[in-house]
Formats: sequence, C-alpha cells, structure tokens
Amino acid sequence: MTPLIDPFGRAITYLRVSVTDRCDLRCIYCMSERMRFLPRNELLTIEELDLLCAAFIKRGVRRLRFTGGEPLVRRGFLDLLNSVKRHLGAGLDEITVTTNGVQLAAFAAPLFAAGVRRVNVSVDSLDRETFKHITRRDRLLEVLEGIDAAERAGLKVKINTVALKRDNAHEIPDLIKWAHGRGFDLTLIETMPLGEIDEDRTDQFLSLATVREDLASYWRLSDLPDRTGGPARYVRVEESGGRLGFITPLSHNFCEACSRVRVTCTGRLYLCLGHETSVDLREALRADGCEGAMDAALDAAIMLRPKGHDFHMDRLRTPATVRHMSVTGG
Ligand code: 5AD
Ligand code: SF4
Repeated sequence: MTPLIDPFGRAITYLRVSVTDRCDLRCIYCMSERMRFLPRNELLTIEELDLLCAAFIKRGVRRLRFTGGEPLVRRGFLDLLNSVKRHLGAGLDEITVTTNGVQLAAFAAPLFAAGVRRVNVSVDSLDRETFKHITRRDRLLEVLEGIDAAERAGLKVKINTVALKRDNAHEIPDLIKWAHGRGFDLTLIETMPLGEIDEDRTDQFLSLATVREDLASYWRLSDLPDRTGGPARYVRVEESGGRLGFITPLSHNFCEACSRVRVTCTGRLYLCLGHETSVDLREALRADGCEGAMDAALDAAIMLRPKGHDFHMDRLRTPATVRHMSVTGG
C-alpha cells in the first residue's frame, strides 16, 4: 500500500463523501429556496461510490464521513454503508454520517447495524419558528425525534450549529446547555462563502471569536488539545462538563495539519475546501481495470494539493467557490 502524501508531507487519512446534493431542508445559508439539483444521471451510482471508498481505503484513508446534501435522502445509501462496512477493522477505523436529522428516526437503527457509531446532526435552533425560518421547513420535531432515536440505537450524537448573527446568536448559550445536558458535544460553525444563496451573507456572519468571548464572560472555557485533523478547536465548558467546538474557516487557519479531502456526489475530488483545484475521478471509476485507473488518478491528484485555503471576509458577498456545500459535503 502506498499512502497518499501531499507535497507538504500531509497524509490523507480522512475522506468525506457527498452522496447526493439533494436535501429535504433549504437552509438559508446553504441554498436558495429554488435550488436546482443535479440531474440524477450525473451522480455516482452506489456501486461507484463503493469502489471509490475502497480505492481510498486501500491508499490509507482510515475514517470515512458520508454527507450531502442530506445523505439519508439518497436511495441505496444503506446498501452503500452495508457494503463499505466490510473495510471496518481492515484499514478503516470508522464510518460517520452528517445528517440534518429529519429522517433519523427511521434510519437510526439501520445506521447502527451498518457499522455507524457516531452521527453529526445539524441543529441551528430549538425554537420551532426560528428553525422553520432558518431551514425554510417546519421539521424541528422530526429532528428532535431523530436525535432521541439515535441515542436509543446506541449512536453517539454530536450537534453542529451554524452561528447566524440575526437568527440564532441569542440562542447559542441555550443550544449549548441543551446539548451538554444530554451528553452531546456541540460544534459551532462560522458561515462559509460556498455557492450562490438568496441572501447577503455578510448580514448573518457572526465571528466565533466574538461568541467565544461572550461565552467566556459567564462560563469557564478550558482549551482542549483534541484535534481531529480538521478545522475544529475544542474547549471544555467547566460548568456543564461538555465539549464545545469552534469551526472558524474565516478567522483561523487550520491547514497545517489537514488530513482530509472531499469527493462530490459527481465524483470530483477536491483537495481543499477553499480551493477550486479538483480532479474528476468518475472516468477512472468507470474504466475497465478501475483499481489501476483509480490508483493512477489518486497519485496524480495528490500532487495538486494546495498548501492552504484563502477565504476572506470580502468574499462573503461573492462566493469563494461556485459549488455549494451540498455538492461538496459539509
Ligand atoms: N457555511 C457554514 N456551514 C454550512 N453548512 C452548510 N452550508 C454551510 C455554509 N455555507 C453546515 C450545515 C451542517 C454542516 C455539515 O455544514 O449546517 O451543520
Ligand atoms: Fe440541507 Fe444541510 Fe444545506 Fe441545510 S445545510 S439545506 S440541511 S444540505
């Protein structure tokens, strides 16, 4: 096995795979109400997704995260997981899923049976009206039921919250109390300039440095060394005993130790979240002798990996990248 090592000496051990760009919510920071989704025939098939995962695992990927869009709306998603499961303990350490939770009540037990032990669930508000405003859908109750079901099924739940100046800034302390009270870690995410949306992002941008300062005025926050090879930094909230993460792509540089790459639902490999540099893997996946073609494509791709990203505040109005998070995977 030849590991995938980029020109800056970073090994790729983590892969995020978007299995669909579709979603049953329409979060205002993510997509427009009239989002146009890709024609289905442009998506990788379940078989191709399976080959793709195998090719990366063979080259040293130890952790896989499935995202979307919303992965639970992809037909055949459980079949994919039940196949990828064969790699667990044979190169692969874990399979995780990022979901909006809407359909989690039905999927929790099957996900556990397919080898998933942790899920990230996005919750931007616990207030039904606010949730409906942010996601443009009245589905908070289903999400909360989904979270209960996940817990019952034995899945470890982590909550992701996108920090929005106008819509949920005031609710952040309550969200943290709620999550920590239930034993869930919570990670706050700054809005990232990905893809065209209906709104002006600068109005909703909330710096997590400010949020952290605010929280630190009434809670004791202790820095934790935990790094996951990704952009999150963690603190322990001493009052609740829970972990709180901050993902600050705009105000913090996290590239030095980045071990992750992403593949879109159409099979395009992005070597960095903030760069357009990408390589199409679909052709290699469809080649006769796919294994050799994939190895060659990955060897060529890894050499193109940029050193770091360059999001800037002035880019919040015009997206740094034209692709949506729902295509690349959050
Ligand atoms: N900026 C920040 N976070 C985003 N997400 C989706 N789009 C964006 C964006 N433009 C979040 C989702 C989810 C996580 C995977 O990414 O809400 O919590
Ligand atoms: Fe769907 Fe996630 Fe985008 Fe919200 S942020 S619309 S849940 S893909």
